[in-house]
Amino acid sequence: MNIAPHRYRLCATSSLVEGRHLKFSIRFEGRDEECLLIRFGGKAYAYVNRCVHMPRALDCEQDLVFDSSGRYLRCSMHGIVYSPDTGTSVSTMCEGQQLRAVAVFEEGGAVGIADFRVSAVRLPAG
Ligand code: FES
Repeated sequence: MNIAPHRYRLCATSSLVEGRHLKFSIRFEGRDEECLLIRFGGKAYAYVNRCVHMPRALDCEQDLVFDSSGRYLRCSMHGIVYSPDTGTSVSTMCEGQQLRAVAVFEEGGAVGIADFRVSAVRLPAG
């Protein structure tokens, strides 16, 4: 019996730059969601791109997900900031609430998703 989640390769390790993000469409728990793939402190992390405050994408108002310091993720709607390594809000608003983390892997020069809740991945166009 195979108990490992399907592994979806998303990009080359070199394509995921520190403090930057890439976006992918995923089927997560049966729903189509946008997924943010980021690198922070040398490690890759992935989150469903939906703020804990309201169902808005973090980059709904600006094409950025890191704040100007590069130390936090920031929702461009009302400014909640999150720890990039845990997805936890460190703002007074929604303090302690977490973005939905998606399990990632990085090996053999590639970064990808390996999460039982993900049933499909669509790579961005272009
Ligand atoms: S919708 Fe993200 S901070 Fe309000």
